[in-house]
Amino acid sequence: MPLTKKFKKLMIPLEAIKSATNNFSDDNYIGRGGFGKVYKGELNVHSKGQTVVALKRLDPAYGQGNPEFWKEIVMLSLHKHENIISLLGFCDESNEKILVYEYVFRRSLDINLNNNDLTWIRRLKICIGAARGLAYLHNPGTTQQRVLHRDIKSSNILIDENWNAKISDLGLSKFGPANQKYTFLVSNTVGTIGYCDPLYAETGLLTKESDVYSFGVVLFEVLCGRMCISNENGNLQSLTSLVRRYYDENKINEIICDKIKEGINTKSLEAFTTIAYKCLNRELEERPLMTDIVMLLEIALQYQCVFSGGGRGDDRREIKFDLGKEMKRDRSFMFFVVLGFMFVSISLSGHDDTKCRYTCGRDKVFVWGFVVVSGGGGSSYLMNSVISFR
Ligand SMILES: Nc1ncnc2c1ncn2[C@@H]1O[C@H](COP(=O)(O)OP(=O)(O)O)[C@@H](O)[C@H]1O
Ligand SMILES: [Mg+2]
Repeated sequence: MPLTKKFKKLMIPLEAIKSATNNFSDDNYIGRGGFGKVYKGELNVHSKGQTVVALKRLDPAYGQGNPEFWKEIVMLSLHKHENIISLLGFCDESNEKILVYEYVFRRSLDINLNNNDLTWIRRLKICIGAARGLAYLHNPGTTQQRVLHRDIKSSNILIDENWNAKISDLGLSKFGPANQKYTFLVSNTVGTIGYCDPLYAETGLLTKESDVYSFGVVLFEVLCGRMCISNENGNLQSLTSLVRRYYDENKINEIICDKIKEGINTKSLEAFTTIAYKCLNRELEERPLMTDIVMLLEIALQYQCVFSGGGRGDDRREIKFDLGKEMKRDRSFMFFVVLGFMFVSISLSGHDDTKCRYTCGRDKVFVWGFVVVSGGGGSSYLMNSVISFR
């Protein structure tokens, strides 16, 4: 079946798009990327009411074309997830190819790296969301094929008003067989300088670990508050080589973004940098799975939440939410300790065996006290070892 017919439901008339963007006026222009110019507009999408949308207008001069246009439509229709951008529709009329997406309030992560409002907790939250989105693409379940994104970078991670991340631009992605440890595909290297896995660039062998490498670069951009390639007085500087040097010399602290440096908990930082650095490993067998990354980032968030205890605005809600689990754990531990303490006190109290009103003897009470205390302590230790991940 032709694609236009298959996705008929998503079609939006060119006239509606022209009026939403004031005929692609400069006032509606918000940026440009590999696909072409991007506009903001308000549109009654499929008669469901006025919605603020982002519209990407294909400009073949930018290097992408028909294949990427349809790839984006097919991929985003197949993959729905709270951390993946929603495609609302498209237009394929009179030589125009336009993609229509939900408008994401804070736009992309690259333009927010230096945002004063981007606290460490918010940064972690964004990274966790993006990692979940990518983990979903890599492991979409039994019914779907694995998707390799191939262009993970901070400008392809959008942030909504609640600091939720959404992965965008699946136009360069590729399907690969799932449930295999390594998915090797030979392909023309695509991606963006600074984010591209050196192994993929050298060999053209595409694996999910190439996305993991690029994600590691994004993680360090978030920590250091700067883009992976920056222009220092006319010289291009690579953040990745800086990170390798500082990490190996155990002084990563020195390149953390000034705006967040003070408030970061050491264990949170350690969890974050350990996993981020693993992503950059030259050997792909050494790079973590996206699901491992999600887990470690969540641990980094837990440490930060326990450490901060307060925070501001949205942070506070976030902290309360995460502390919920933490507190349940602590409360159950306290319950065991108090119970154990009661048993031990009873056994040590001056009861004379002959006067003892309890059905069991002092020795038994003491043993029970011991069991309860060591049980409580042991489970707490286990919980902690899960959290400390090493
Ligand atoms: N759905 C969206 N909502 C809000 N802003 C968007 C959306 N999609 C893209 N943008 C913004 O448009 C600009 C260009 O995006 P894009 O074409 O994806 O660039 P790139 O090729 O660098 O990823 C970026 O600055 C991004 O912030
Ligand atoms: Mg993009």
